[in-house]
Amino acid sequence: MSTPLWEARADLVVVGTGVAGLTAALRARELGLRVLVVTKASGEDGNTRWAQGGVAVVLPGEHDEGDTVDAHVRDTLVAGAGLCDEAAVEAIIAGGPAAVARLRERGAVFDAAPTGGLARTREGGHSAFRVVHAGGDATGAEVERALLSAASDGRVPVLEQHVAVDAVRTPLGQVCGLLVLDGNGVPGVLGAPAVLLASGGLGQLYQATSNPEVATGDGLALALRAGAAAADVEFVQFHPTVLYTGRGARGRCPLVTEAVRGEGAVLVDATGARVMRGVHPLEDLAPRDVVAAAITRHMAAGPGGVDDHVFLDATGISDFARRFPTVHAACLAAGVDPAGQPIPVAPAAHFACGGVVSDVDGRTGVTGLYAAGEVARTGLHGANRLASNSLLEGLVVGTRAAEAVAADLALGVLARCSASASVPVELPTAPVAARDSLQRVMSRYAAIGRDAEGLAVVGSVLDLSTADRELDTRELVEDAALTVAARALIAAAAEREESRGCHVRTDFTERDEVWWQRSQVVRLNPSGQPVLADPVVARGVA
Ligand code: SIN
Repeated sequence: MSTPLWEARADLVVVGTGVAGLTAALRARELGLRVLVVTKASGEDGNTRWAQGGVAVVLPGEHDEGDTVDAHVRDTLVAGAGLCDEAAVEAIIAGGPAAVARLRERGAVFDAAPTGGLARTREGGHSAFRVVHAGGDATGAEVERALLSAASDGRVPVLEQHVAVDAVRTPLGQVCGLLVLDGNGVPGVLGAPAVLLASGGLGQLYQATSNPEVATGDGLALALRAGAAAADVEFVQFHPTVLYTGRGARGRCPLVTEAVRGEGAVLVDATGARVMRGVHPLEDLAPRDVVAAAITRHMAAGPGGVDDHVFLDATGISDFARRFPTVHAACLAAGVDPAGQPIPVAPAAHFACGGVVSDVDGRTGVTGLYAAGEVARTGLHGANRLASNSLLEGLVVGTRAAEAVAADLALGVLARCSASASVPVELPTAPVAARDSLQRVMSRYAAIGRDAEGLAVVGSVLDLSTADRELDTRELVEDAALTVAARALIAAAAEREESRGCHVRTDFTERDEVWWQRSQVVRLNPSGQPVLADPVVARGVA
């Protein structure tokens, strides 16, 4: 037991400064709540700013002929490979136009079409041009800039360099605050009847990822320790095209947005043969799981002479540098000129389709704990997220979660934190594996193409490299989160004896519609190990 050295109070503490967290914080402030945002890095360091493609949305009066919100719903359900929660999909996608309008009111500037209205592009799995974008391929950066600027008037304080360790809970298990460590490892309590996790994903489970260093699954681990459930964690989406910069790439790799294929680029191997020809009717614009798996198979078979990358031929895009300035700069830095040469690319870990089980208002099963954005599993993504649906989800669910907190406060169903913030708290102890070993085995055995034997190897390596540690530094909090996330993922992946969406089993190659059209739920057992809840639950888990 240790008494926290400092404390602060709010109505709502938001963990994370990405699109979902800042949207929620701004909406909460509009509703008159005292809100405090906490991030383990600096305000700009989240995943949002790396998003390139855009926001998928069917805007009234600005869409392809025949495109509708229903068509966007259908494309999302098809991409999700039978595991989406249809009601959640409908609610979130229907909320898109209003969410984008609010974002523009807050100052975000989207690219204009020469003919008027917003420019729209297309990405994998979309049946129409409905992805609006900013700065060419810098949509996330513009969204982040606009939201941070809207929050910068001092009424949304952002506590930087503070890592969230654990939820503080009442004896009845309701959340009443957050235990954090400051940059020097000094513990403190942020007392609040509502905590919203908007802490992003877990790409750092793997050696190569499009995600920044902060994406270590902290929110998932915190929610599990607080008694919440997670679902669909086996579905980690690999982006088909990050820039290949040589064998053994590590950490965040530059993304080559799918919109490049939307504008006509095609995947080829070293001989110039088309990778996606004959694989799917949409060819290079097939859903992302299909493209990433096809590239992986193509590389393994080595028909084009290389085994660790293919190429994206974008030489037909005449104004590449203007349309895709971020990708263009990354390519030039790697010595590739996309105007004259195909871009070397390979798949890398990109997005957690599963996460903390929550409804479209961000409510989890734990009173006072909410989740929005990539950390949450609302049922929008199912077994494979449709491209550019994630910024959309952050905008819509971020807003709804703030409104849910305000409603729950008004109803008096949340725990009052007045007494609890001064109660001594204990820094948790949790299993922590060595990050290098974890990333190596996850990349080798739990990426695209898994089998029972490989998943068991991951378990054995984690057993050997794990020790219980008190979580008294940011690094230990992150490593504990990666450890529990890896354990949850391999438990769910081993159990799911079929291939579906982002989960590709080489020993169970078929999709099983009879038993496996259902989500698996993971919770922590009393000794802190993730276990599958029994029974598995059907679609629409909440
Ligand atoms: C991309 O631009 O290809 C990524 C967008 C997304 O992940 O939705």
